[in-house]
Amino acid sequence: MAPRRTCLKPAAFLLTLSLLIALTSAAGHGCCNRPPWLETFRRRSLLPVDIINLDSNDTSEFSADYGNIIKAAPSAVLHPSSPADIAELVRSAYNAPQPFKIAARGHGHSVRGQALAPGGVVVDMAALGDGGANDRINVRAAPDANSPPYVDAGGEQLWIDVLRETLKSGLAPRSWTDFLHLTVGGTLSNAGIGGQTYRFGPQIANVYELDVVTGKGEIMTCSREINSDLFYGALGGLGQFGVITRARIALERAPQRVRWLRLFYTDFGNFTRDQELLISMPAGGFDYVEGQALLGQKGVDNSSFFSSADVEKVAALAAQFDGLYMLEGGVYYDSSSSVDEKLEVLLKQLSFVPGLNFSNDVSYTDFLARVPELPDDGTLHPWLNLFLPKSRVRDFQIGVFKGIIKDTDPAALVLLYPMNKNKWDEGMSAAIPNEEVFYTVGLLRFATAENWKFLDGQNDEILRFCEEAGIEMKQYLPHYTTQEDWKKHFGDKWDRFAELKRKFDPKVLLSPGQHIFA
Ligand SMILES: Cc1cc2nc3c(=O)[nH]c(=O)nc-3n(C[C@H](O)[C@H](O)[C@H](O)COP(=O)(O)OP(=O)(O)OC[C@H]3O[C@@H](n4cnc5c(N)ncnc54)[C@H](O)[C@@H]3O)c2cc1C
Ligand SMILES: *[C@@H]1O[C@H](CO)[C@@H](O)[C@H](O)[C@H]1NC(C)=O
Ligand SMILES: *[C@@H]1O[C@H](CO)[C@@H](O)[C@H](O)[C@H]1NC(C)=O
Ligand SMILES: *[C@@H]1O[C@H](CO)[C@@H](O)[C@H](O)[C@H]1NC(C)=O
Ligand SMILES: *[C@@H]1O[C@H](CO)[C@@H](O)[C@H](O)[C@H]1NC(C)=O
Repeated sequence: MAPRRTCLKPAAFLLTLSLLIALTSAAGHGCCNRPPWLETFRRRSLLPVDIINLDSNDTSEFSADYGNIIKAAPSAVLHPSSPADIAELVRSAYNAPQPFKIAARGHGHSVRGQALAPGGVVVDMAALGDGGANDRINVRAAPDANSPPYVDAGGEQLWIDVLRETLKSGLAPRSWTDFLHLTVGGTLSNAGIGGQTYRFGPQIANVYELDVVTGKGEIMTCSREINSDLFYGALGGLGQFGVITRARIALERAPQRVRWLRLFYTDFGNFTRDQELLISMPAGGFDYVEGQALLGQKGVDNSSFFSSADVEKVAALAAQFDGLYMLEGGVYYDSSSSVDEKLEVLLKQLSFVPGLNFSNDVSYTDFLARVPELPDDGTLHPWLNLFLPKSRVRDFQIGVFKGIIKDTDPAALVLLYPMNKNKWDEGMSAAIPNEEVFYTVGLLRFATAENWKFLDGQNDEILRFCEEAGIEMKQYLPHYTTQEDWKKHFGDKWDRFAELKRKFDPKVLLSPGQHIFA
């Protein structure tokens, strides 16, 4: 299959220009109360009127996100059939007397309303992939003798679908998130991190080229060589400079199987020392390194990893030490004889509690797709993700794990694992701490309408604690509401970030839910 290129063929453009606009009941109340700009948009754009669809159910789906905390309805939803439709919408907004806001919505798995467009237009990115036979994921196994393989994937595509498609050629991307029901454009607008980041960098460091619809409604192809300011800006750019409609992503040969390990520690210092040892091994160590804090006597669930006896053993230890740490590792392989030998050598170098090491053996696909998509049951997700410099991770453990959230016991997943800064490309927009090794900590807590504010108050307390203790952390998937805070977040990168905004989205139309530019 030929790599997909965005080219604007005028005839095809007019034929496929089928924008479906759904008017919200909230903003619309029937036919006659629409915002004036929407009427202007309908009159001026090239759209046949009969494809404008009134469906108040539609906008409600686009008024909230995975967090279930922030709700705000758009005035309309665009279901584009091509990147050109998105460009047409952005041009209409750009040229309107009163420009309206536009947010691309990938899979809506933000937790703080980042993909909402209150009173504006949400672009339902998934509609780009609705065109029947999927021509939006194209694998090039052997581009030419000297080039590594790659996949061209639509910005709206879910990583799980990118995996399925690339595996047909025995290939796969090399850097992943834990959960694959996220879109290419959504994770590339943040960073895309997981257990392979220490070795290959975040997903944004594994991209060769992008197509982007800018805030002026232009479709631009960019890479390290061509339009490089847009390329570096858009990667980790929080949707501020354009809508990513295609990404060319690096591939490698996919391994067949994964030996998946869980190692338990009662001692935080040994836990982080082993993680740091493992991420210092460029090859020949673990292929995947993460970890979790099991706080407040929390044990492990019955799973394919643990026998009932194991579950009890872990629970007893967790009670005795008031919590445990679990290093999670993966070693990829094709032939099991070599993996057994390799593991024997590696495990000898580690300091987990003797006997408290467990392993599972799964296919590569099952490993990557290990976190299922859960139905929305109304749970609230006041999640907090931070990057912490290695030199302060112990202070964070004492102040937060053993302090602020010590006796809090809602259902929670607390992730903690290190990464190497030299695998990140500092020219990209994502903000990271200024230390060679830094940790990500994810406080993934599941809340109810009754207790979410309490948990969110703890999040604020944690941020204050870092501030007062002088821990120079960065938020990942950041949530700030004042430009002062955003300036601090971006630090040295702020001036360039603001300059790129003036260049590529001068009317400040895109991704208003990030609250970066007024
Ligand atoms: C259960 C769960 C597990 C997660 N696990 C991980 C993980 O392991 N690692 C990790 O790094 N992250 C993880 N995340 C966070 C996730 O990467 C971000 O929330 C990401 O933004 C979600 O992608 P999405 O497609 O749903 O984006 P949305 O929430 O739809 O959008 C996010 C932001 O990007 C903008 N945007 C969306 N699409 C585009 C586009 N094509 N072009 C430009 N801008 C766009 C939106 O306007 C919005 O501002 C997880 C989130 C959840 C809910
Ligand atoms: C809107 O949702 C309601 C309740 O789920 C359903 O009965 C109705 O048919 C939906 N309307 C449209 C236009 O889809
Ligand atoms: C774990 O699950 C197995 C099989 O589902 C069951 O036989 C066993 O009793 C369970 N153990 C515990 C501790 O729940
Ligand atoms: C930490 O690791 C060291 C070195 O392997 C070991 O001697 C010590 O017993 C470990 N401590 C705990 C509490 O496991
Ligand atoms: C646990 O680690 C030891 C080496 O310390 C190893 O021999 C054993 O096979 C491991 N057990 C499992 C289940 O991986």
